[in-house]
This record gives sequence, structure tokens and C-alpha cells, in this order.
Amino acid sequence: MVRCCKILGDANKGEIAMLTRAKLDRALGAVPTPKELVEFMVTLATPPKDHCRVLEPACGDCPFLEAFAERYGHHHEFVGIDIDPEAVYRAKARVPFATILEGDFLLWQPSERFDIVIGNPPYGIIGDESHYPIHTLRERKVIYKQRFHTWHGKFNIYGAFIEHAINLLKPDGKLVFVVPASWLVLDDFSKLRLFLAHTGRLAVYYVGKVFQRRNVSCVVIVLEKSGKGMNLYDGEKLIVSKPDYKGELIRFETPQALEFERGGIALGHLFDIHFAARSPEIRAHPQVSTEPQRGLVPVLTGRNLKPGWIDYEHCYSGFWMPKEAAPTLRFFYGFPHIVVGHTKGTRVVAALDERCYPWREEFHLVPKECNLDLQAIVWHLNSEPMQAYVRTLYRDFVPHLTLTMLKRVPIPHDLVSRNEMPKLPLEG
Ligand SMILES: C[S@@+](CC[C@H](N)C(=O)[O-])C[C@H]1O[C@@H](n2cnc3c(N)ncnc32)[C@H](O)[C@@H]1O
Repeated sequence: MVRCCKILGDANKGEIAMLTRAKLDRALGAVPTPKELVEFMVTLATPPKDHCRVLEPACGDCPFLEAFAERYGHHHEFVGIDIDPEAVYRAKARVPFATILEGDFLLWQPSERFDIVIGNPPYGIIGDESHYPIHTLRERKVIYKQRFHTWHGKFNIYGAFIEHAINLLKPDGKLVFVVPASWLVLDDFSKLRLFLAHTGRLAVYYVGKVFQRRNVSCVVIVLEKSGKGMNLYDGEKLIVSKPDYKGELIRFETPQALEFERGGIALGHLFDIHFAARSPEIRAHPQVSTEPQRGLVPVLTGRNLKPGWIDYEHCYSGFWMPKEAAPTLRFFYGFPHIVVGHTKGTRVVAALDERCYPWREEFHLVPKECNLDLQAIVWHLNSEPMQAYVRTLYRDFVPHLTLTMLKRVPIPHDLVSRNEMPKLPLEG
């Protein structure tokens, strides 16, 4: 097997030297872009003038520069940059008319800006190998965090690529990137959405799972620095147009989905939503056992949660504890409450935990001060119109139901029995 040499200066050099080609590709988020997608994106990158400076960051072997030159001519000025010397070597052979640089795009400060930036940046959270894909760059994370204003929460390397690429555009320049759809709805990208809203006119083309063997749903973003507003397309069909876009979640807001949402009170107004206790806490609890014993009940996980009922028999967590001790982990294990699935895809799966068991996963709903018909709410949450609502708005942007999505789920007024319950406006 080929061993890869040091490619990142002194950062993580021991580790890099030991990585095989396949592992290095994974650690650098190297995934080739399908030809049809490259062609589609190049059609969106029409040069605004006769002679443009065109950049492909994270260029790999430069499929975008090659396709751009074939479509619009070789007379433009082409630059590619990649951190991987082998990719740079291949790119120089494939696009000899371009200037190809070896280096970290996120730390690169060219003296001249670009008319067009086009490409497919790496994707992944930067962190330790045990948990996160982009581990070769983890020692640079501190510098990236300082440098990129949109960095928030765990973020993702593709967010930093978007910010840097936009900052390298000329005042009337255009960015065309394919990236995961997660930034449309996750809180970690709220600063990025705000930045995009304030920077120019945004067009988002949903293209779905375009990368073979990668279970990641993607969008093509086109950001034109001169202009404002946001258009969301399904493929090439315009679905949502917001001339006054301010950085809110980007969703497939069809009239039916919005009508359904406005027809009830947002769940977040009726319930406090909590996460379950985490494994380390459970493991450290003095009354928790890793063996089944008389008098102990299983600590439940998402696999125990079914639409409308709970499997109290099987133990998937590997932990057991006395039921009476459950509230010492989380107070809300001490009374019947609604549990909603977190990791079951973009759908709502809910059940009422009437036996008050301990949990290691899922969302737990604690009613605020009002009388609620919990069984009827569970039925409503599992209903087909509810599934259609979340599927329409959020598709497969992320592989799970988020807290933000759950908070906005509408509960019909007739399931809230207290008359004085205020009809609160929905956000966004
Ligand atoms: C998703 S691939 C895209 C390759 C090519 N543009 C394509 O579309 O086929 C991402 C590329 O990013 C490069 N890369 C990862 N981190 C980088 C960084 N910080 N600076 C520059 N290139 C980087 C990898 O070496 C890899 O070639």
C-alpha cells in the first residue's frame, strides 16, 4: 500500500506520514465530483466579462477549471489550489493552462481577487480521528476559528471554505459551490446564513444525494456579491423566493406546509424540550449496572421508541438501573411525558412514556403551565399530515430531526384545553 508523505508542514506530521492514500483522502475530504454535476455548475458560472480570473479551491485534479475552459474558452486566467501534493501533480497534468498551487486554501491570502470561484470544497467536522473525519487539520482549528467569523459550534470545514471563497471575490464576483444541505437548517450555521444574506444574492439548488456511496444530501449555492435576496430551487424549478432574506432557516416552504404550520401553536411554546442523559453520566451513576438484575429496568434508547408505543422489554443501551432512581439522572424521568425520536430520519416518531423509565436518547417534552391532552398530541405527532409537513419542509437536509425543527411543529388549538393559552406568533 502506498504511504503518503508529509503534506502539512509541521502540523500533525507524524500522523500524516503514516496515512495510507485511502485514509488521507478521507481525512482531507477528497471526493471527486460527478461529471454531470460539474457541467451543471459550470452553466451557472457564466463569465460576466471577456476576461475573468477563475479560482477552483480544493481543486483536486481540477475538473471545474477544465470544464469551464472547455465551455467558455481558455483565454480566462485560471488558478487552482489544493493541500495534497499528489492532487496538485495530477492537476498540473490535466489543466496545463492553469496556475496550480500547493497549500492550505483557508490560510491563503492572494494579492488579487477573483471574478468566479467554483468547486467542491471538502466536507466534515474538524476534530479527533475517533469522532470526526477531518482530523489531519485539527491543530489548525484554533487559527481557523479566529480567522472565520461564521465559525459557530462544531461548524464544518465547508462553511469556512464558503466564507473565505466569498472574501476572495471581487465586488461583483460570483461563487458556485456544491456543499451539504445541512447549513440550510442547522443552528451551527446561523452565522453563515446571516453572512450570506448580508453579502449578496443567493440561489440555492437542491440536488440531493449526488455523490456515489456518500449518504449526504447536497445543494449547489450561487452567491452573487452584487444583489440581495434568496431563491431556493428544486433542481432547476424555483420553489421559494425571498427578496428580503435575512438569514433564517432555508426550507421548502410550500403553501400547504406553511398553512399546516400556521394552523397550530408551535410545540416549543407548549413544552420545554430536553435531551436525555448521556452515556458517560449513566455509566458513572452508582445504581447503574451493565448486567440485568432483579429489580432493575433497561435504560431505553431510540430503538425502544415506536410510533405510539414503547418497547419496555429489550435493553439496547447495555445499562440497567432501578426505575425509582431514574429521576436522579433527569427530573423528567419521574413523571409520564412525551418522548420524540431524534435519530429516526426527518420524521416525527412519538410515544407517551407512562411507566417513567430512564432514557439514554431522544427528546423529552415537559409541558409548560397548561393542560394538554398528551395522548392526542402523540397521535397528532405520529400522523401522516405531520410526516408530510416535515418531509416537505426539510427533506433529507440532515439525517435527523433537530430541536429547532421540533420546536416549530404545530399543535392544533383544540388539543390545548386551557382557553386562556395565548395564540403565539410563529418565528420566521
Ligand atoms: C471534495 S474534494 C474536491 C476535489 C475536486 N475539486 C473535485 O471536485 O473533484 C476536496 C479536495 O480538497 C482538498 N483539501 C482538503 N482540505 C484542504 C485545504 N485546507 N486547503 C486546500 N485543499 C484542501 C483535498 O485534498 C481534496 O482534493
